[in-house]
Amino acid sequence: MNSQLRREYLDALGLKSWALRGKPGLAGAPAQVTAAVVGVAAIAEPPMLGAATPMRDVSAAREAGAGWDELRARVAACTRCSLSSTRTQTVFGVGNPHADWLIVGEAPGAEEDRRGEPFVGRAGQLLNSMLHAIGLAREQVYIANVLKCRPPGNRDPNPTEAAECLPYLERQIALLKPKIMLAVGRIAAQNLLRTDKTLGALRNQVHRFGLSDVPLVVTYHPAYLLRTPTEKRKAWEDLKFARDVVSRV
Ligand code: URA
Repeated sequence: MNSQLRREYLDALGLKSWALRGKPGLAGAPAQVTAAVVGVAAIAEPPMLGAATPMRDVSAAREAGAGWDELRARVAACTRCSLSSTRTQTVFGVGNPHADWLIVGEAPGAEEDRRGEPFVGRAGQLLNSMLHAIGLAREQVYIANVLKCRPPGNRDPNPTEAAECLPYLERQIALLKPKIMLAVGRIAAQNLLRTDKTLGALRNQVHRFGLSDVPLVVTYHPAYLLRTPTEKRKAWEDLKFARDVVSRV
């Protein structure tokens, strides 16, 4: 990606000002990239946290053997929790089935419920810009949610809904074999990592997800960044951090 294009993407993220002034860049790197690299803490040897839990091993087996088409059909017909009675349709996930990156959000919102695709509203547009900022097109990654159905009024998923739905995501992960998972937002991160730690405490570390041991990095939800644009700089740090993790896999 050339520096002009990258500048446009960073502008879209509201990170125009995030360039080192009066300092030499890393060899061959645009100033913004240099700034981002310098800005990432603990990039050298990130600590590995988290481990597969016996509970997850059991739930991961539920959809074992299903291929993409079978899994999609099972999700579309799912009535395992009460969200099946309020959804317009299920939101399976979208993207490249050979993607290195799996982005995982919380649950479909109103627009996603209507269109059957994750992250298609305003938050989705910002997510696309965030991905572009690290040189990824939406079509290159895979995007899914912890829940396949919209909770009424966009309330948080409850533990039963998450427990019933996670095996679908786990099967998607087994089929996809991503190099990295990016959990966007506290709810996604807490459900994937089975923790009640704050998002701030979960950032800037490499966690591991499930039996497949996929590296998992946590960042802010784009909807939160729309409400709190001053945090975009930290999200940018997270994305650079994640990209560095991928380069090591
Ligand atoms: N927020 C999410 O977490 N997921 C979506 O698909 C849309 C908004």
